[in-house]
Amino acid sequence: MRLSTKSQTFLLASVLLCTLLGLGYPLSCEVCTGSGPTCSGNVQTCDPDQDSCVVIVAHTNRKGHQSLNTYKGCMKSSACSSGFVSITMDPENYMVSNTRCCQSNACNHDPLPAPENNRTENGLQCPTCITHFKETCSSTKKVLCVGQESHCITCAGKVQTGVIFATRGCATENACHTKPGTLVPAASRLHHHPGGPQPSG
Ligand SMILES: *[C@@H]1O[C@H](CO)[C@@H](O)[C@H](O)[C@H]1NC(C)=O
Repeated sequence: MRLSTKSQTFLLASVLLCTLLGLGYPLSCEVCTGSGPTCSGNVQTCDPDQDSCVVIVAHTNRKGHQSLNTYKGCMKSSACSSGFVSITMDPENYMVSNTRCCQSNACNHDPLPAPENNRTENGLQCPTCITHFKETCSSTKKVLCVGQESHCITCAGKVQTGVIFATRGCATENACHTKPGTLVPAASRLHHHPGGPQPSG
């Protein structure tokens, strides 16, 4: 009787331990970058602090050059926000994207619909500027907002290369919810090149 109770306790403890270890076990996500509405790649183990898989489909217009790109990979949940984002700096520099974050192995495999690109002006106007190597920018120019862009935004942050940038323009409400330094890869492409389309201000 005693022995059996002991072994039951041991068993319970083992199960608990395994469960706890299981919770901390690294997530695996499909990882790929590609042009077009989807991409496929290997399922890779995420860093321990990356607790979400993400799939992003983004339509960008940078200096009049349009492209549709897909990104799949691992992310911190705190940096990942699902939904539709639209940001416009001027008619030749904008981005619309759909993002989905999820938290189980390879859950980012399935494709997402390409983001709707509604360029119909909605009546809102915002100051616009893009600057690099500075955390603020001022502006005398205005941009006409389109589609669901209901906010004027000022974003400052770092692109993946570590370069500081600041930008102002039109955006959907959720565009600046991500913390500095965690802009989605597709969005940061907008601000990649120093000496961009807008004079730094
Ligand atoms: C496109 O955006 C305009 C302006 O916000 C809006 O009136 C219109 O309903 C939108 N069209 C679609 C198909 O969502």
